[in-house]
Amino acid sequence: MDPWRPDLYARFAAERRRPFDDLVALVEPAPDMRILDLGCGTGALTRALHERLGARETLGLDRSAAMLARSAEHAAPGLRFAQGDLGAVGADGAYDLVFSNAALHWVDDHPALLARLTRAVAPGGQLAVQVPANFDHPSHRTADDVAGEAPFREALGGWRWGDRVLDPRAYAELLHRLGWGQQHVRLVVYPHVLEGPEAVVDWVRGTLLTAYEERLGPRYAPFLERYRALLLARLPAERPYFYGFKRILMWARK
Ligand SMILES: C[S@@+](CC[C@H](N)C(=O)[O-])C[C@H]1O[C@@H](n2cnc3c(N)ncnc32)[C@H](O)[C@@H]1O
Repeated sequence: MDPWRPDLYARFAAERRRPFDDLVALVEPAPDMRILDLGCGTGALTRALHERLGARETLGLDRSAAMLARSAEHAAPGLRFAQGDLGAVGADGAYDLVFSNAALHWVDDHPALLARLTRAVAPGGQLAVQVPANFDHPSHRTADDVAGEAPFREALGGWRWGDRVLDPRAYAELLHRLGWGQQHVRLVVYPHVLEGPEAVVDWVRGTLLTAYEERLGPRYAPFLERYRALLLARLPAERPYFYGFKRILMWARK
């Protein structure tokens, strides 16, 4: 089943746009770029990337048919979209830029993943990636806590999200070991001011919780109710609610 809902995801489009803009700003524009955008979602930001860099060709790749169904709205010359798994990318040296905003954390084993993405980039090419690093926030910890409770633990067959996103320094070391000559890695806390703590449930429902929905089937509804109750008991009942969201931005050039 495909748990992604473009409308729910789009509710926080303005907040999600900020790290995208910061990531694009790290890219050094070059003429006639061939770009691969991994986990492109609806393609709205892929088009912005394509146009901002004046690219020759951009391919947006995503696994979700529901997200890609919106990509026709973002058609532009040189821009195309395809359904596929970003974990299986293997095109040797085919791209001047491999780009990914808020998607690589859906795939485990980042040392192996980044090694594959390195091979997909042409000599002199660039890598630009943003991943959330918010897994120590109650919004994310609570999902993991509920996944450890019965009956969800059994329904998930022991699956847990785990610590797949590395520390910023570990990414810097990895990029160095993979032979990237120039690099910039930084952690940013994005200050999101939401209406109230209940908005965090919708935020997380549109992204992280899709991984649980996909695996839990009919048990997802009670999982979500338990998550909501536990999270709201843990967050301060402040209006507006300040949601500090940590993200890692990394850029490298061969
Ligand atoms: C948080 S959204 C980000 C979308 C877009 N990059 C943006 O910034 O708006 C994550 C996207 O990654 C996609 N995704 C998750 N796992 C994937 C995989 N293994 N291969 C390709 N896409 C994947 C999801 O379908 C979703 O559209």
